[in-house]
Amino acid sequence: MNYYKVELSKDYTTKLIEMIGEWCSGHKIAKELGISRTAIWKAIAKLKEMGYKVETRKGKGYKLLKKPEISVYEVALALKGSDLIDKIYYYKEIDSTNEVAKRKGASNILVFAERQSAGKGRLGRRWFSDYGGLYFSIALKPGLSIDDVPKITLTTGLAVCDALNELGLKARIKWPNDVLIGKKKVCGILCEIVGEVESPLVIVGIGVNVKNEIPDELKDKAISIKEFKDVSLLDVFCNIIKNFSSNYKMLIGGEWKVIRKKWIEKSDTIGKEVVVSVGGKKYSGKATGIDEDGGLILNGKTRVYSGECFYVA
Ligand code: BTN
Repeated sequence: MNYYKVELSKDYTTKLIEMIGEWCSGHKIAKELGISRTAIWKAIAKLKEMGYKVETRKGKGYKLLKKPEISVYEVALALKGSDLIDKIYYYKEIDSTNEVAKRKGASNILVFAERQSAGKGRLGRRWFSDYGGLYFSIALKPGLSIDDVPKITLTTGLAVCDALNELGLKARIKWPNDVLIGKKKVCGILCEIVGEVESPLVIVGIGVNVKNEIPDELKDKAISIKEFKDVSLLDVFCNIIKNFSSNYKMLIGGEWKVIRKKWIEKSDTIGKEVVVSVGGKKYSGKATGIDEDGGLILNGKTRVYSGECFYVA
């Protein structure tokens, strides 16, 4: 399998990338990173292979001229300062980042793919995942019970919504976890649980339509960010990680009420007439709130905790 693995605590290539932002001598790099000249040369050759442009001059050393739009090291740089992730697995193409995360079975990992050949959506659907979109999964052991997992889903939806708004987009959240711009979906979130009930491993899978073409059959429901703004995959990723890390820490730190309040402020669903379909049953009414467990409240009383939500036109 062709993939890159970066263990954040051991990696020196990200530091090298930062150092060669300005001309930097091989001597200085070797000294500061504690590596040999051969190791520097190899790391530079690998960066070039990944699409980095590096100039080398005698007497001056190395200077970075251009970065690729995305790479495992750019993902690693974006994760600097976030203490949620220890390891990154980065694929050009894989079946599904959620499935890889499940197969690894470890916590505090991030699985990233430039393309998914069998991207998974909610309710057994397929998630269309061509190049140009953002597809990644974060595996965490939050120490919450299985009943609290819907809160993680809502927390993630809020993080993506805030991330997109910070990039100048007008995103809202459709319960339970779609992020919309206007009436169309730009992001889907699939949270899956593996392991013991008391302390499950939660896989948070995030898919964002950034620059990918939307297939014709989905065009009435889904849209790519490129239709509104030219933003890089990396900027979208960095903003999501920043917002996800802070929201997740708030949730784990017992501040669910704050998240819930913010979620309601960004909600596209509250106030609308909806039908929620759950395992063959249908619940309809006006969405009036989110309860203390993350369920959608209909007509001030009925509560639904999962399912597909349709707006009644
Ligand atoms: C939905 O149906 O709205 C959820 C879509 C979730 C898609 C993401 S892309 C990254 C991760 N890997 C998958 O196979 N699915 C999720």
